[in-house]
Amino acid sequence: MKLSVILGTRPEIIKFSPIIRECERLGLDYFVLHTGQHYSYNMDRVFFEQLELPEASYNLDVGSGSHGEQTGKMLAGIEKILQKELPDVVLVEGDTNTVLAGALAAVKLGIKVGHVEAGLRSYDRRMPEEINRILADHCSDFLFAPTENSRDILLYEGISEKQVFMVGNTIVDAVTQNLEISQSKTQILDNLGVEKRKYFLATAHRQENVDDKERFTGIIDGLKRVQREFGVPLIYPIHPRAEKRMTEFGLDPEGLKLVEPLNYLAFLQLESNAALVLTDSGGVQEETCVLGVPCVTLRDNTERPETIEVGSNILAGTHPERILEVARTICGRKGWVNPFGDGKTGGRIVNILSCELA
Ligand code: UD1
Ligand code: UDP
Repeated sequence: MKLSVILGTRPEIIKFSPIIRECERLGLDYFVLHTGQHYSYNMDRVFFEQLELPEASYNLDVGSGSHGEQTGKMLAGIEKILQKELPDVVLVEGDTNTVLAGALAAVKLGIKVGHVEAGLRSYDRRMPEEINRILADHCSDFLFAPTENSRDILLYEGISEKQVFMVGNTIVDAVTQNLEISQSKTQILDNLGVEKRKYFLATAHRQENVDDKERFTGIIDGLKRVQREFGVPLIYPIHPRAEKRMTEFGLDPEGLKLVEPLNYLAFLQLESNAALVLTDSGGVQEETCVLGVPCVTLRDNTERPETIEVGSNILAGTHPERILEVARTICGRKGWVNPFGDGKTGGRIVNILSCELA
């Protein structure tokens, strides 16, 4: 079996790392194709270095652009490489433009597609991620659903049971493989001058939030109110999209501690020791659930309803008063069960593909 891993953004590098490690361990015939959707050092290379992942065999250097332009460039570039390499299967992970381009390029060449994190739905078509994940699911041959809920969604949409594999989420593998190392290798708490459980952590970068002045203003006001009421430092490692919009909209983050995007070990360390996390990130909703840290989600919906069901997460939207109210409700909560699997998902996926394609 020859396998191609297609990735392009921060969360894909992190969530693919357990699969890449497994391919290396087994000495499989595989290669990594990087679209270059993320390219700044702290959104890309730092994760390869820190997670000790081999260099990508190809990097398309597609960079930023409008959705059509970015996806179109990726499609054309991926197609050329797949025609040359002719893998038996292409793996994509998640819901970014890289995922859509990878799945579409492969299926049109008659190459099998495996979608890791299949079957997630926010039922909100204004989100580019929702379009990407629906289309990727419906052109995939192997759908790796993280939970029972995501598996049921796929079956309900008419996908054959034979194609759907409930395997857990590789984020649990990534957390398990890196948490201990992060505790010994990083001094981020000291560097930021904060103490365990005596600070909050925030991230916000989603297009529907930060590109909308009213919603982004609501989030920043909400974070400031939370910080004032609880009287603890609130750290916000700011994604480049959000940083750009903050300047453009003239938002004032006074009272919040803005820092550059962090490497994975530092972020994991900060996340696992936070008293509360506020976020619109998909991966962070999952990680907080796995780490036992309560989460306020700065969105109106989530494609990770398992986190709400087990009690680790509450949806707050972007109104400042509601953000504060939810922070009051969930802060201090603990004791739920992780619904995302046992940390062996990467191995399971590689094993299924090896058997199916033998
Ligand atoms: C993308 C994904 C989103 C995911 C996020 C993870 C899509 C449609 N969106 O959003 O689902 O949650 O990645 O972080 O695929 N920029 C840089 N350096 C970089 C990358 C981006 O400065 O390395 C800036 C550029 O100004 C760029 C903007 O961020 O225009 C947005 O980047 P883009 O890749 O289009 O989308 P993300 O917001 O990163
Ligand atoms: N993350 C990181 N550094 C940061 C912020 C996030 O390493 O400064 C990690 C986080 O641990 C998680 C992933 O990035 O594994 C989530 O990616 P992001 O929020 O960019 O995208 P999403 O999950 O929303 O698609």
